[in-house]
Amino acid sequence: MSITPIDPAKVPRHVLADGSTLPAIGIGTFGSDRYGPDEIGAAVLGALRYGYRLVDCASVYGNEDTIGRALATCLDEGVRRPDLRVMSKVWNDAHDPDRAIASTMTSLDKLGLDYLDVLYVHWPFPNSHAPGVGADSRDPAARPYHHDEFMRLWRALESLVDQGLVRALGTSNTTIPKLERLLSDARVAPQVNEMELHPCFQQGRLFQFCLDHAIQPIGYCPLGSPSRPQRDRTPTDLSDVDQPVVRDIAAAHGCHPVAVCLKWAVQRGQVPIPFAVKAAQYQSNIQAVMNDPLTREEMEAMASVERNNRLVKGQVFLWDTATSWLDLWDVDGNLP
Ligand SMILES: NC(=O)c1ccc[n+]([C@@H]2O[C@H](COP(=O)([O-])OP(=O)(O)OC[C@H]3O[C@@H](n4cnc5c(N)ncnc54)[C@H](OP(=O)(O)O)[C@@H]3O)[C@@H](O)[C@H]2O)c1
Repeated sequence: MSITPIDPAKVPRHVLADGSTLPAIGIGTFGSDRYGPDEIGAAVLGALRYGYRLVDCASVYGNEDTIGRALATCLDEGVRRPDLRVMSKVWNDAHDPDRAIASTMTSLDKLGLDYLDVLYVHWPFPNSHAPGVGADSRDPAARPYHHDEFMRLWRALESLVDQGLVRALGTSNTTIPKLERLLSDARVAPQVNEMELHPCFQQGRLFQFCLDHAIQPIGYCPLGSPSRPQRDRTPTDLSDVDQPVVRDIAAAHGCHPVAVCLKWAVQRGQVPIPFAVKAAQYQSNIQAVMNDPLTREEMEAMASVERNNRLVKGQVFLWDTATSWLDLWDVDGNLP
C-alpha cells in the first residue's frame, strides 16, 4: 500500500446550506470500549498527517483531550485551522441548557479550539448512564423526546452560534417527525444530520428528507461497525462486508469490501466517518473514495443490499413506559 499522503485539496467536498464545505469523508473517534484515548489520539494525528481534514468527536467518547493534542500538533506542523473541520456532540446528560453550554465549553477546551465547525445533539433523549453499561441497563429518570424541552436545548446551542463558538448545528439519531418540528421552530436550522448509514441500513426516506431540506447526511457505522460493543449486537444483525453484492463488486474492483462500502457512501452523497486506529486501515479508507468509483450499475446493485438492519438500536436510552427500542425511532411516522 502507498503511504504517500493524499492531497486534502483533492478530496471531494459537500457545500452546506451556509456555503461552507465539508470533506466527503472524515475519521470517527468512538473507541467502541476497546480502543483507548491515547491510541485514538495517535490515530487522529496519523490520519490528519495522511490527509484527513474532518474529525468526528463527542464529549461522551472520553478522548477529546488526546484528540486536542493531535489537532495542536497538526496545527503546529502547518495545517491551517480553516482547513480543518472538527465536530463534537452534547451528550444525553447535558440537555439542560446551562449544562449543554458547559459541556460545549469543556469540549472546546479539551480540543484546544476556539470554535467547533459542527455541534450536534448526540441523541434527542435526556438520560444518564455510566459509561459502558449493558443493553439491559435503564436510567429510571430517562425521558422520551419532548419537543419544548428539546427546543430549550436548541436555543442554547443557537446562542453558541451567535457567539461564534460553533459554526453549524447538527442533529443525530433523529427522525423525520422530530426534524419537521425542529425545522419549523429553529432560528438556526440544522445543517447536518449524523445517522447510521451502511449498505444494509440505507434509511432512504430520512436520507432524502435531509437532502430535500439542505441538511447534509453524515453516515456513522459506514462499515457496519464490525468492532462495536457487545451492547450494540443482536442476533438479527447482518454483516455489510459479507453481503454477496458487496463482495462481488469488491472482487470486480480488486479491493476490500470495506472500500466498496465507502465508495458507495461517498457516491450516494453521505459523508462516511469510518473509525480506524490502524494506519493501513485509515489510509486505505480515504484512498478508496479518491479513485476507481463504482459504476452506475454497481450503485444500483448496492441499493438492493438495503435490509433495514439498524445496528445501534439505542435500547439503553429507553424510559420506564417504553416497550421496545422501536419507540425511539418514530416508526409509525408520528412523535409519541
Ligand atoms: N452519532 C452517533 O450516535 C454515532 C454512533 C456510532 C458511531 N458514531 C461515529 O461514527 C464513527 C464510525 O462508526 P463505528 O466506529 O461504530 O463503525 P465503522 O466505522 O463502521 O467500523 C469501524 C471498524 O471497522 C474496522 N475497519 C476500519 N477500516 C477498515 C479497513 N480498511 N479494513 C477492514 N476493517 C476496517 C475496524 O475494526 P478493527 O478495529 O476491529 O480492525 C474499525 O474499528 C464512530 O467512530 C463515531 O465517530 C456516531
